[in-house]
Amino acid sequence: MSAHRVAVIAGDGVGPEVVAQARRAVEATGVEIAWTELPWGSDHYHRTGRMMPADALATLRGHDAILLGAVGDPSVPDHISLWELLLALRQGLDLWANVRPAQLLPGVPGPLAGRAPGEVDMLFVRENTEGEYAGVGGRVHAGLAGETGIEVSVFTRPAVERVVRFAFERAEERRGRLTSATKSNASRYGYVLWDEVVAEVAADHPGVEVDSVLVDALAARMVRDPGSLDVVVASNLFGDVLTDLAAALQGGMGVAASASLAPGSDAPPLFEPVHGSAPDIAGRGVANPIGCLWSAQLMLEQLGEPEAAAALRAAIAAVCRQGPRTRDLGGTASTAEVGDAVVRAVEAAP
Ligand code: NAI
Ligand code: MG
Repeated sequence: MSAHRVAVIAGDGVGPEVVAQARRAVEATGVEIAWTELPWGSDHYHRTGRMMPADALATLRGHDAILLGAVGDPSVPDHISLWELLLALRQGLDLWANVRPAQLLPGVPGPLAGRAPGEVDMLFVRENTEGEYAGVGGRVHAGLAGETGIEVSVFTRPAVERVVRFAFERAEERRGRLTSATKSNASRYGYVLWDEVVAEVAADHPGVEVDSVLVDALAARMVRDPGSLDVVVASNLFGDVLTDLAAALQGGMGVAASASLAPGSDAPPLFEPVHGSAPDIAGRGVANPIGCLWSAQLMLEQLGEPEAAAALRAAIAAVCRQGPRTRDLGGTASTAEVGDAVVRAVEAAP
């Protein structure tokens, strides 16, 4: 089989540090990858005035997947790095399903540590192209007492339906439970449409137990009774907030992984850790690479390499259980030491 073509946007801050470990671990599985390094991000912005070149999407379309570290630097306003790179990729490639597993791995300390394995095993599916992050709105009366900012949420039936359908399918493969989070008591239009779509799609999936809940109550339930949650589907904003909470519950930003997918299209899926560029620890070799390694594991699954994906998954779990661990998980290891241990565990796999 020919090599998978993977575009690498290592990005800013700790991005390159964690991506380097993920690449080594993927290579240790023996899967053949042709990597294309794309030096996009904040340095690119200072050199050229853009976070990525004008033909970036065309370049990416020539690949089977994208592995991204993180973007964002104190020297560039965050709305520029976000809108000109991350959101430009998600929206430009129509990567409409953002999928984030939240599992408590044995050995990882956290607010829910000590729960039985399997009790914290949630899969978040976040709508990734519209909703509260549609970018519709405007500003008027700048500098005057009545200065106004209007931010409009956009919910279209096709975009809601495809992501809800996708979430039902994931629930069917897992424990058969789907929880949909909205706030349709206070917001009477978009989230009500969302709830209606969930009820309609539910009719096609009689084997899935559906639960439509208010997002604030869901946040509390994630902490109080995480075992009651299997797949959770949510809008762009709610999914964003809930998955940071989920990351904290599974041991912190350093371990959380994500995939942005466009099922049914030939756009390259995007795999990235949930964390940002962590400027406070960048350049010191102490960032936790687990979130990026886990994202690379999701990439191997998506590339159709189930054996390599299983080997990497087992290696990540073994290293979380036995160490070495980085400081955010209570250890003293460097980024590279964790990467070394994962590579050794992959190589030792039967
Ligand atoms: P952040 O995720 O970079 O950092 C939050 C906290 O988590 C920091 O204390 C950091 O040290 C810690 N942390 C993050 N990753 C870690 C890792 N791998 N190991 C150990 N600790 C880790 O979020 P923050 O500080 O809000 O944003 C920093 C920059 O990153 C901003 O410019 C922001 O716009 C950008 N950002 C980019 C994202 C992306 O590329 N997907 C996502 C979130 C933020
Ligand atoms: Mg977020």
